[in-house]
Amino acid sequence: MKLQIAIVITSVMLIANLAGIYIDVFIKTNPVISPNNDLSDKNTTNITQPLIFSEKEKQRARFPKFDALYEDYIKKHNRTVAKLLNQTTKVNSAKLPKVIVVQSLMYLGLGNRLPALACGFLYSIVTDRLFFIDGFYNFDEYFEKDFDHDWKSVANLYNNSRSRYLHDNNQNAFQLITRGNLSNEEINTYDILFVRTWDYVCAPLISNPNYKEWISSIIPNNKVYNAISQKLLRIKPNITEKVETFINNNFGEYNIGIHIRMIKNMMIGNTITPIENFCSAAKMLMIGTEKKNVTIFVATDNNNNRDILINCLHNSLGSMNDSTKIIHASNDMDVINPIGGNPGTEVEAIVDLSILSYCDDLVVTFGSSFSFLASAMFYKSLPLWGPYVVMPVKNNEDDFVIDKIWLWKATFNEPCMYFSKALLKESDPETIEVFKTNPFWMYYSEECT
Ligand SMILES: *[C@@H]1O[C@H](CO)[C@@H](O)[C@H](O)[C@H]1NC(C)=O
Ligand SMILES: *[C@@H]1O[C@H](CO)[C@@H](O)[C@H](O)[C@H]1NC(C)=O
Ligand SMILES: *[C@@H]1O[C@H](CO)[C@@H](O)[C@H](O)[C@H]1NC(C)=O
Ligand SMILES: *[C@@H]1O[C@H](CO)[C@@H](O)[C@H](O)[C@H]1NC(C)=O
Ligand SMILES: *[C@@H]1O[C@H](CO)[C@@H](O)[C@H](O)[C@H]1NC(C)=O
Ligand SMILES: *[C@@H]1O[C@H](CO)[C@@H](O)[C@H](O)[C@H]1NC(C)=O
Ligand SMILES: *[C@@H]1O[C@H](CO)[C@@H](O)[C@H](O)[C@H]1NC(C)=O
Ligand SMILES: *[C@@H]1O[C@H](CO)[C@@H](O)[C@H](O)[C@H]1NC(C)=O
Ligand SMILES: *[C@@H]1O[C@H](CO)[C@@H](O)[C@H](O)[C@H]1NC(C)=O
Repeated sequence: MKLQIAIVITSVMLIANLAGIYIDVFIKTNPVISPNNDLSDKNTTNITQPLIFSEKEKQRARFPKFDALYEDYIKKHNRTVAKLLNQTTKVNSAKLPKVIVVQSLMYLGLGNRLPALACGFLYSIVTDRLFFIDGFYNFDEYFEKDFDHDWKSVANLYNNSRSRYLHDNNQNAFQLITRGNLSNEEINTYDILFVRTWDYVCAPLISNPNYKEWISSIIPNNKVYNAISQKLLRIKPNITEKVETFINNNFGEYNIGIHIRMIKNMMIGNTITPIENFCSAAKMLMIGTEKKNVTIFVATDNNNNRDILINCLHNSLGSMNDSTKIIHASNDMDVINPIGGNPGTEVEAIVDLSILSYCDDLVVTFGSSFSFLASAMFYKSLPLWGPYVVMPVKNNEDDFVIDKIWLWKATFNEPCMYFSKALLKESDPETIEVFKTNPFWMYYSEECT
C-alpha cells in the first residue's frame, strides 16, 4: 500500500516539472489513480455457450483513467467554449484558446477518418488545446456527442488566427511529433494546429519522450484507439440496437469474422487476395471446434465476392457445415456511397465494423484500414493478439498467385499506420530511434504496406 502511494507521488512530481500540459493538471488533481492493470487482467473466459450481447459488453476492455480524463476534458471544453461564445464577453482575438482541428476528409472511408479523429483528440489532451472536428457533417447521425466539437461553432472567431499543419496527409511533422515539444515557443504562436490525414497518427506521439510516460499512465500503448473511441466515437444507441439484435440472433459459441476488401486496395497496387485464402483460413480456425456451434460473420465490399466466399465456406466445411452458421448484415454492397465511392452505406459500414468487433477471431485483408479498425474496436481486453491477416505473395512484378500466401496473426489490435514505413525510411536517425521506443513500432510496420 505504502509502496503504491510512493509510486504515485513520484510520478506526479516528475510530471509536475512540465508545465502547461493538460495531463499534468489532470494527474495532479486526480492523484489517487492506481497503476494501470488492464494488461495484467488475464481473465480468459471459457465459452461454453453463446454469449449474448450484454454478456459480451461486460467483458469489454475498460479504461477508467482515460474515462475520467475524458469527463474532465468535457467540462473544460464546455466551460471554455461557453465563455468564448458568450456574446457579452468581448472576445480578445489575441487570447483565443489554442485548438487542434481535425479536418475530416469525407471522400475517405471510416477506416481512415475515425483513426484521425482519435489521434487528434490525443494531441489535444497532451497539448492542452481544445479539440474540434471540421467537415464531418454527418457525425451526429452515427455517434454520440458529449461536447460540441463542431469547428463551425467557433471557427469565425479564429478568422485572424495563425495556423499550421501537424499532419497534412504525407506531409507530416514527424520529427516534431516524435521527439519535439508540441508546446514550444514557436508552436505556441499558432492558435490552430490542423490534422488532416487518413493515417493513424497516434503512434509517433506515443514515442515522444516528452509525453510517453503520461500517455501510457492513462492509456495502455496497445489500446489507444480502443480507449479513445469508446468515448469520443461512441456509436448511437439506435445503431447499437441493430448490432445487439443481430448478435443475439446469430452468434454461436465461437464466432469468426471475415472482412474481405477487394475493390479499393490502392496501397498494394492491384493486389487481389484470392477469396479461397480467406475460406481456408476460416477452415483452419475451426479445427478443434467440432463440438461447438460456430458462426462465421462475413463482411465484404461487394455482393459477388460475398457470394463466392459463402459458397466456398459451405463447400469446404464438410461435416461441420451443418453446425456452422454463415451470416452477413449488409444487404446490398453494390450500392456505392456517392461520397468517396465506398461500397454500401455508412451506417451499414458502422454496423459491420461493430459486429466484427464482437467476433472471437478475425480474418482480415492486408492493408485494409477498415479491417484493422474493426479489430482495433475489439470488445474484449484479451487476447492481446490481433487479427489473422491474409495476404498474397507476388509471383513476379505484377502477378499475385493463389498458392503463395502469407497468413499471420497481427501482434495486437490497433488501426493501420501507413506512414510508419515512410517514417522509418525517410526520417533522420534520431527520430527513428525515438519512434522505435514505442514497444509496438514493429506492429505498425507489419500491418500495412
Ligand atoms: C472449459 O470448460 C470445460 C467444460 O466446463 C472444461 O472441461 C475445460 O477444462 C475448460 N477449459 C479451460 C481452459 O478452463
Ligand atoms: C472473468 O470474467 C467473467 C465475465 O466477465 C466474470 O464473471 C468473472 O468473475 C471473471 N473472473 C475473474 C477471476 O476475474
Ligand atoms: C456571459 O458573461 C456574463 C459576464 O461574465 C455573465 O454574467 C453571464 O451569465 C454569461 N452568460 C452566459 C449565458 O453564460
Ligand atoms: C439514429 O438516430 C439519429 C438521431 O439521433 C438519426 O440521425 C439516424 O438517422 C438514426 N439512424 C438509424 C439507422 O436509425
Ligand atoms: C457539455 O455540453 C453539451 C452540449 O454541447 C451538453 O450536452 C453536455 O451535457 C455538457 N456536459 C457537461 C459535463 O457539462
Ligand atoms: C470570418 O470569416 C467569415 C467568412 O470568411 C465571415 O463570414 C465572418 O463574418 C468572419 N468573422 C469574423 C468574426 O470576422
Ligand atoms: C516546452 O516548451 C515550453 C515553452 O514554450 C516550456 O515551458 C516547456 O518546459 C517545454 N517542455 C519540455 C518538455 O521541454
Ligand atoms: C447448436 O445449434 C443447434 C441448432 O441451431 C442446436 O440444436 C444445439 O442445441 C446447439 N448446441 C449447443 C451446444 O448450443
Ligand atoms: C451447407 O449448409 C447450408 C445450409 O446451412 C446448405 O444450404 C448447403 O447446401 C450445405 N452445403 C453442403 C455442401 O453441404
